[in-house]
Amino acid sequence: MGFDTIIVNGRVATATDIYTSDVAISDGKISALGQSLPRDNAGKIIDAAGKYVIPGGIDVHTHLDMPFGGTTSADDFETGTRAAAFGGTTTLIDFAIQYKGQTLRTAFDTWMQKASGKAVCDYAFHCIMTDLGDAQLAEMNALVREGVTSFKMFMAYPGVFMLDDASIFKALRMTGKNGGLVCMHAENGGAIDVLVQQALAEGKKAPKYHALTRPTTAEAEATSRAIALAEMAGAPVYIVHLSCNDALEKVREARDRGLPVYAETCPQYLYLSIENFDAPGFEGAKYVFTPPLREKWHQEKLWNGLKRDHLQVVSTDHCPFCFKEQKELGRDDFTKIPNGGPGVEHRLSLIYSGGVAQGRFSVNRFVQLVSTAPAKLFGLYPRKGTIAVGSDADLVIFDPDRKHTISATTHHMRVDYSMFEGIPVTGMPDVVLSRGRVVVEGDKFVGRAGAGEFIKRSTYSQQ
Ligand code: URP
Ligand code: ZN
Ligand code: ZN
Repeated sequence: MGFDTIIVNGRVATATDIYTSDVAISDGKISALGQSLPRDNAGKIIDAAGKYVIPGGIDVHTHLDMPFGGTTSADDFETGTRAAAFGGTTTLIDFAIQYKGQTLRTAFDTWMQKASGKAVCDYAFHCIMTDLGDAQLAEMNALVREGVTSFKMFMAYPGVFMLDDASIFKALRMTGKNGGLVCMHAENGGAIDVLVQQALAEGKKAPKYHALTRPTTAEAEATSRAIALAEMAGAPVYIVHLSCNDALEKVREARDRGLPVYAETCPQYLYLSIENFDAPGFEGAKYVFTPPLREKWHQEKLWNGLKRDHLQVVSTDHCPFCFKEQKELGRDDFTKIPNGGPGVEHRLSLIYSGGVAQGRFSVNRFVQLVSTAPAKLFGLYPRKGTIAVGSDADLVIFDPDRKHTISATTHHMRVDYSMFEGIPVTGMPDVVLSRGRVVVEGDKFVGRAGAGEFIKRSTYSQQ
């Protein structure tokens, strides 16, 4: 009996190695690696000459079908995972939201329903906790046992998502014991709210005031406080969507002290800046997300942080809202613009292009940032995040020379603009496989809604 599929002539690139090897797939798993594997009776042979074969991307920060700001994010689990697959991402970790008064179980059940029958590639969930009584704190253990092993909390959005320090500290103490990992939205929501109210009172209502009322100091202060609370609780902490050098410095200092502190940044903070708000009219609303865009000089600091492992992961914080009808809800008042931007499709190309093609770091570091580190930190490794016998055959045949200019006219996300419109990239996925099934072939989608499965994740282990 032959293999189901063999990928031949490619250069296998993992977080540690690059070598020429065939990759054989049987029953959705990688079943052999080696040169000149027998091709007789193989169900399918894919030629990867001149290309890398890398593990499927893992995006640990998306918001599909998420109610927010009086509307719902524009991609659901079908369109969002499909766009992800086009970009070489084969696993998403989305957020199940516990609203006030609800159990954590309700959040998990609700998001399982949103995803089931729709996702084209595999998915898992973090749980966003907004209301933490004793019952919900105890429930965290049950969720961890069911494979929801990370919890997001907000230090911002007072009255909506924000939790007080005591609740955050209690949750961190729980994860210190049960092996969960807290993901922190670190911005000082109280101080920001004062600045927002002042701006509104002064009639400053244009989109750029969203950014101008959320200073980098507010992010750095909350990052520092999150780290201190985690240290006191004896727990690891993962800072989400880190946007600026001030916060990066706090993470770097903590890591230098040997604390289990981790952070992600997102392509928008590496490619865009506060200058995007100079766009005419209401166009700046396209860039309203939180934390906001910063001055341009922060970008190189973040790239350097990725290179030197002060930052461990690149995620997207994909939270798409159409410009027409959704972003427009805030035409007269920036506080009413739904916060979020679309990005799930272009993470690999943007990070390969800016990271590897522009000489900032190696192909191995690229794989580490977009796949292996997320898999290890969030309990998916070694099932996902690497190319090894026994791992899921989530694979991307990545053409390092293919060029593309990002545009809403060609992207696959269900949103009417691109944050990265006109940005040229070098390096794109050619063929994408999810558990051994080809889901994307060049410009064609050949996957199936509902083929994606919920993945139960393991608990955190120190990296
Ligand atoms: O503006 C953003 N980032 N929207 C999504 C929610 C969040 O805080 O991650
Ligand atoms: Zn957040
Ligand atoms: Zn987010």
